[in-house]
Amino acid sequence: MATYKLLLLPGDGIGPEVMAEVEKVAAFLQASGAAQFEIERGLVGGSAYDAHGQAISESDMGLAQAADAVIFGAVGGPKWDGVPYDVRPEAGLLRLRKDLKLFANLRPAICYPALADASSLKREIVEGLDIMIVRELTGGVYFGEPKQIIDLGNGQKRGIDTQVYDTFEIERIGRVAFELARKRRNKVTSSEKRNVMKSGVLWNEVITALHKREYADVELEHQLADALGMQLVRWPKQFDVIVTDNLFGDMLSDVAAMLTGSLGMLPSASLGEVDKVTGKRKALYEPVHGSAPDIAGKGIANPIAMIGSFAMAMRYSFGQGAIADAIEKAVADVLAAGLRTADIKAGATKVVSTAGMGDAVVAALKASA
Ligand code: IPM
Ligand code: MG
Repeated sequence: MATYKLLLLPGDGIGPEVMAEVEKVAAFLQASGAAQFEIERGLVGGSAYDAHGQAISESDMGLAQAADAVIFGAVGGPKWDGVPYDVRPEAGLLRLRKDLKLFANLRPAICYPALADASSLKREIVEGLDIMIVRELTGGVYFGEPKQIIDLGNGQKRGIDTQVYDTFEIERIGRVAFELARKRRNKVTSSEKRNVMKSGVLWNEVITALHKREYADVELEHQLADALGMQLVRWPKQFDVIVTDNLFGDMLSDVAAMLTGSLGMLPSASLGEVDKVTGKRKALYEPVHGSAPDIAGKGIANPIAMIGSFAMAMRYSFGQGAIADAIEKAVADVLAAGLRTADIKAGATKVVSTAGMGDAVVAALKASA
């Protein structure tokens, strides 16, 4: 049996708490003979800064490069508000994305029927929702240069970020979206602000041309990013795959998360290009939620997004779709049985802790194995 090399980077806040539940799932899969893991652990974010003054150390970057998949918790918190910008907690995550060239961020938003009442939207709007946001992750305003604050010398300063996209970056993320759509409901909605941004004009042109050339069998529509934000809360089930840039994708995926009941539900996969020689691709899996410092250490965080991210690793890094399905089914079973963490407690028959939810998912996995 193949051994999968994992690097666990729990990070800060609730990161270590939710990561502990992934470790339970991994241990169960290993003990039951379903999969074999070689696990390394490292530090990222504020915890890395406290240990060695960097948001991620060179040696942990080396482990990340060598891993088949990085499993990432969350970074940041008020404790590190004052640290220098280039070593702030988020810099660790951004470096991982950039250095591992993880340009494709997949953020599926699924509303389990059992959770429809936990959403801030009406049940009929969200029940059965299943959309995939494909966010470009290594370009755009997150990384464009110049990126600086300059002193204008007259008591004024100027903050500059640069939104920049080249054709190849738009094409490769477009391909990911079209390929995914073909395996789903065959529809892609591309989103930008071509009415005000040159990068949006190019984005629209490149996606349109790619569609015509290689993916004419897939339905394509374009929505301006502001309008798409509105449509996401008005009638989200119109969407199948949404493809958009780094910044719009960041915002829209937080909106999508709330449709599912809680930010604690949304997993994500960040993928690099498939290596033509080895057939492998670099990958990092992380929940969309952050470090939630307000609830950290209380044992009440929802581990489902983290466990779901691990399921995505089984599917996208290891080709173990059946194991991924089994993990996702275990989560659905636990929710259907009425177990909830505090963030999704609407309709709960029993509110459980972080560890209680992890144990229940493992028990459900065991029951259906
Ligand atoms: C996300 C987060 C990150 C981002 C932060 C932590 C840098 O919000 O993954 O959505 O902005 O990309
Ligand atoms: Mg975000």
